[in-house]
Amino acid sequence: MSAGPVRGGSRNRIAVLHGVNLDQLGRRPATHYGALTLMQLESRVSDWGAELDLSVQFFQSNHEGAFVEELHRLEDAVDGLILNPGAWTHYSWAIRDALEIAGLPAVEVHLSDVDAREEWRRTSVIRDLCVATVSGRGPEGYRDALVRLRDELAGKIG
Ligand code: DQA
Repeated sequence: MSAGPVRGGSRNRIAVLHGVNLDQLGRRPATHYGALTLMQLESRVSDWGAELDLSVQFFQSNHEGAFVEELHRLEDAVDGLILNPGAWTHYSWAIRDALEIAGLPAVEVHLSDVDAREEWRRTSVIRDLCVATVSGRGPEGYRDALVRLRDELAGKIG
């Protein structure tokens, strides 16, 4: 008997991790981040995940240690990661190390176009550990990231 699409060896579990200040979406500059709250954004991402046959879970913290511990925990709990660590992207070697330990395929996402803003936002300490980076596409960038991870997990890439 077939195990069906979601059980057995199927790899479709995605965690979306938001870092520092992303809980404040909706009251941050709309020119860079749009008008959606984090809850609205997560709801959209969840719908896109369902359309793509992915099971999506969410986490947000303003505490670097909590974010690191979530990465430690996720190694055996999910198959792929979408990370928007906020400002930590640009300098947190601790998050970089934790991502390396997790050893999961990951896509880095930024709502804003970080390469077209201040110089310090152009550095990402996680980029080379990620299979892709999506930046400046607003909420749609998360859909791009889900598609990229789905293809990665289906073995269509790499
Ligand atoms: C961000 C870009 C970061 O530079 C910034 O610190 C954020 C959000 C983005 O989604 O565009 O908090 O990651």
